[in-house]
Amino acid sequence: MISQSLQIMIQTVDIIYGLAWGDEGKGKISNAMAKHYDYVCRWNGGPNAGHTVYVNGQKHKTHIVPSGVFAGKRCVIGPGCVINTDKFYEEVRTLRSAGFNPSLIKISPNAHIITQDHIEYDKKHLGHLGTTSQGIAPCYSDKMLRRGRRAFEVMDPCWMWDGHLEGKVLCEGAQSVWLDIDHGDYPYVTSSTTMPYAACSLGFSPRKINRIIGVAKAYDTKSGVDPLFPESLWNNADLNRIIELGGEYGSTTGRKRLVNWLNLDKLHKAIKLSGCTELIINKYDILEAIGIFKVIVNGVVVEFDTLNSMKQYINDYFIINNIDHLHEISWSGDKEKI
Ligand code: IMP
Ligand code: MG
Repeated sequence: MISQSLQIMIQTVDIIYGLAWGDEGKGKISNAMAKHYDYVCRWNGGPNAGHTVYVNGQKHKTHIVPSGVFAGKRCVIGPGCVINTDKFYEEVRTLRSAGFNPSLIKISPNAHIITQDHIEYDKKHLGHLGTTSQGIAPCYSDKMLRRGRRAFEVMDPCWMWDGHLEGKVLCEGAQSVWLDIDHGDYPYVTSSTTMPYAACSLGFSPRKINRIIGVAKAYDTKSGVDPLFPESLWNNADLNRIIELGGEYGSTTGRKRLVNWLNLDKLHKAIKLSGCTELIINKYDILEAIGIFKVIVNGVVVEFDTLNSMKQYINDYFIINNIDHLHEISWSGDKEKI
């Protein structure tokens, strides 16, 4: 009975998530959209994520707190997330001193807690996978072994979420399709389900989901090591300029990201797998700044004279390789205040 009345109170759920290897600029999009919602929720990951947003020209970074806090919306960190309490409290202090209201933030009692042992294990044993060293995989492992500690056991009850959602709900994904534990480039993946369907772990019916907004980037990058990532071209001068102009350094680790031209076949597969209804391609202005426009199709690099011809080609590509659930493609610049 309780869950039935909960479903009725939710009007709609929209989801924002990444279609590549993370770092597509999801934070900017969800921050821009948050004002239209009652709740902004995270369903996966922990301090391995890094969202950079600008509010009134000021730069803010969050790792675990949903971007709704900047719009004064209620924020939920769901049961599928993992929490480093020290880092969470530090984020709360920073937000408070910047004038935002941390009492809007609630954490599922069932979210798991990252311990110092998890961090040590990650640093000692998982470096070869290029992890963020935040203790993510060991924490999720203990969760699966049913010996993890959960938020309600160690945190002040004032932070605990009572499971309530109502009105319009925005869910923001952390990491992205190719980092997903089931569908990503295993073992060079993260430990959670980054796919939009996992947003339902927050406790609503899949039938509530309306928009499934996938964010991609006008070129591909991946943070960390990955022999499966389509050849990283650090020795390519044009792609190196993309790294510099696009600021393609890990927001949690500071590492230089692997980089290549946008692989359209991989993007097509990500859209199909994840049920994306709207595609946003971010950071096209970085390509404009270097004046080089390329994509990869069937393993072959295709070059264009102008950004417009590249956009046209991508539109045509998705018309020819039709995906019935995808009905909109839009472009967003890195420097655009949307
Ligand atoms: P872990 O999540 O720390 O275990 O790291 C596993 C892989 O996911 C590594 O390649 C990380 O660089 C990558 N990763 C984890 N979180 C993010 C993120 O928020 N953005 C981009 N890459 C990430
Ligand atoms: Mg990020």
